Amino acid sequence: MPDYIITGILATLNYIDLKRDTNIRSPSLRPYPNLRQSRNLTFVYRTRADGCGRLWMVDTGLFEIPGAPRQVQAPAIVIYDLATNQQIMRYPLKSSDLINANTPAGLASITVDIVGDCRNAYAYVIDLATFGLIVYSLRENDSWRLSHNYFHPSPTAGNMRISGQYFQWGDGIFSITLTEPGCHGCRIAYFHPLVSIEEFSVSTCVLRNRTASQDSTFFSMFSKVGDRGENSQCTKHDYHAGSRVVFFAEIGRDAVSCWHTGSALTPSNIAILAQDRQRMSYPSDLHVTGDEVWVMVNTLPRFVYSRLDTNEYNFYIYRGNVRDLIAGTVCDSDFQRFLR
Ligand SMILES: *[C@@H]1O[C@H](CO)[C@@H](O)[C@H](O)[C@H]1NC(C)=O
Ligand SMILES: *[C@@H]1O[C@H](CO)[C@@H](O)[C@H](O)[C@H]1NC(C)=O
Ligand SMILES: *[C@@H]1O[C@H](CO)[C@@H](O)[C@H](O)[C@H]1NC(C)=O
Repeated sequence: MPDYIITGILATLNYIDLKRDTNIRSPSLRPYPNLRQSRNLTFVYRTRADGCGRLWMVDTGLFEIPGAPRQVQAPAIVIYDLATNQQIMRYPLKSSDLINANTPAGLASITVDIVGDCRNAYAYVIDLATFGLIVYSLRENDSWRLSHNYFHPSPTAGNMRISGQYFQWGDGIFSITLTEPGCHGCRIAYFHPLVSIEEFSVSTCVLRNRTASQDSTFFSMFSKVGDRGENSQCTKHDYHAGSRVVFFAEIGRDAVSCWHTGSALTPSNIAILAQDRQRMSYPSDLHVTGDEVWVMVNTLPRFVYSRLDTNEYNFYIYRGNVRDLIAGTVCDSDFQRFLR
């Protein structure tokens, strides 16, 4: 054992090579794109690949060492070309996109919306700390910030008990997922705060319209979709176009659940698909790729409020086939037809 402690983050963004690393239990993480160039990134939360071979992320620019955080560079939207692993773009957010020094730490997820061709893309960046939504237009290379009460946490949903830890959180808007385009090319953006059991929606045509927030009816362009049920606080959710089902990474119930968007969003229309107190404690990310759901789990409350037990498995990656997961549940469209 070394008699010194290294503090810091070696590489904030890492990957596992599914061809080379999957035969190994607990494979080492590989810095992205490599160790030297991973230094370009200070602190990255959840990344997203789009349908155009690009990897999008927010670099918060905040070096988050407990007790000694340091803003190293301006928070920025960063895009990599997945074919060459070269940075395509780094767009520093404008001061008008940020509320105060607490904002960067809350830029925890990004959703990419491609309108027709790859050059016309929008990114929706959530701000869970100072409760806003930052919209970036790739074509205009410009960004703007939106505010709404639905981006705030629900005060009655903040008492948490996860991984054996009791605590209270106040995180706002955390996840946005998009349906396929409907009329006029608009998608429905479903979103929720982390501290909430409610789900909301807004049309992407409202988000993409940089003057919509000046309209006197702007606030009524957002809707409440429904309630997911007790302890259903969740981090990320994602929509699967083929089945029209949304999947949720639930931290309150240590679970992955689903809802068919053709049904009312009520607790009885939510099905728990996987649940485990130990091995699904704090599902921190979830996304749908092709016909698979991928989930990352990291037991965060345990290592934040207690300590990381390195003799146990603390980090998990799960994947499951959409059809297999929802078969026979209320999310199954055959089941939906049967009810009608
Ligand atoms: C690292 O950042 C520099 C300066 O922004 C940029 O020119 C370079 O392409 C980046 N390299 C990679 C691999 O991202
Ligand atoms: C986008 O805007 C930023 C400043 O906000 C600028 O640094 C960058 O060069 C612009 N990129 C392109 C491709 O115009
Ligand atoms: C953008 O929003 C404004 C205000 O609601 C509206 O007048 C305008 O028609 C919208 N533009 C588009 C392209 O939808």
